[in-house]
Amino acid sequence: MKLGRNDACWCKSGKKYKNCHLAMDEKIQRFAERGDLVPTPEMIKNEEQIAGIREASKLNTEVLDMITEHIQEGISTGELDRLLYEFTVSRGGIPGPLHFEGYPKSVCISINEVVCHGIPDDKQILQSGDIVNVDVTTIYHGYYGDASRMYCIGEVSEEKKRLVRVTKECLDLGQKAAQPWAHLGDIGYAINTHAEANGYKVVVEIGGHGVGLAMHEDPWVSHIGQPGTDMLIVPGMIFTIEPMVNMGAAAVETSKEDGWTVRTVDRKPSAQWEYTILITPNGNEILTK
Ligand code: MF3
Ligand code: CO
Ligand code: CO
Repeated sequence: MKLGRNDACWCKSGKKYKNCHLAMDEKIQRFAERGDLVPTPEMIKNEEQIAGIREASKLNTEVLDMITEHIQEGISTGELDRLLYEFTVSRGGIPGPLHFEGYPKSVCISINEVVCHGIPDDKQILQSGDIVNVDVTTIYHGYYGDASRMYCIGEVSEEKKRLVRVTKECLDLGQKAAQPWAHLGDIGYAINTHAEANGYKVVVEIGGHGVGLAMHEDPWVSHIGQPGTDMLIVPGMIFTIEPMVNMGAAAVETSKEDGWTVRTVDRKPSAQWEYTILITPNGNEILTK
């Protein structure tokens, strides 16, 4: 059933279709007719949803800022998990990971060769020389924000520092490539090209994702890709970019013991940074900044 120009827009803005998403839908339709993979309406957020996801992302950033103050040599990842839970709940939020598909803790903390989904533990103490990813997802009034940062603990080797720095550059290049009317493949291409130019390998199996009304939504966002391929990017999409970059080989494996912890197969270090971004008519906005 086709919406009339004067019908209420599908996005539930309350506006007439002609004054809301009609022009954009027609533009998307032209790309679809050309053979492009285009986003479904569920991948495009309305103003109310964007406002809610912006608030959740803001709290998510406050949580990461709190962690930044406490993370140091000698603290256990279990203690960081407790601090995060208490802080999040005190602000009216809920840590997204807690009980998500059976995940046992409130945050993912991934050290050195752990690529992602490291489970905090009171017996795991941060050591000088560690590089650590803290990946925070916060639910606030039903909306989700998701971001991660790397931390260098004490005296870290130059080669590990370089991995952390280049991975952040990969994220920032991916973010700059995430333009309206570009394609998801442009993001992966920007990330993978920079990683490989620096002698690193990008993890292939795990990608970014739509986010906002749930922790993981479509589309899946590959961190490798080719320009002009994969899904069309349009204003109103909200997704993460979260490249995992390995010092050695790209291959990763999930722990058979806990079912969560992802490690590099060669046990060489891996780094990851993550943003949640909103695609705007003129570019994008990092919501987790
Ligand atoms: N924050 C992670 C991401 O970036 C998801 C963690 S899911 C968990 O997608 F269950 F492992 F916490
Ligand atoms: Co995350
Ligand atoms: Co994510």
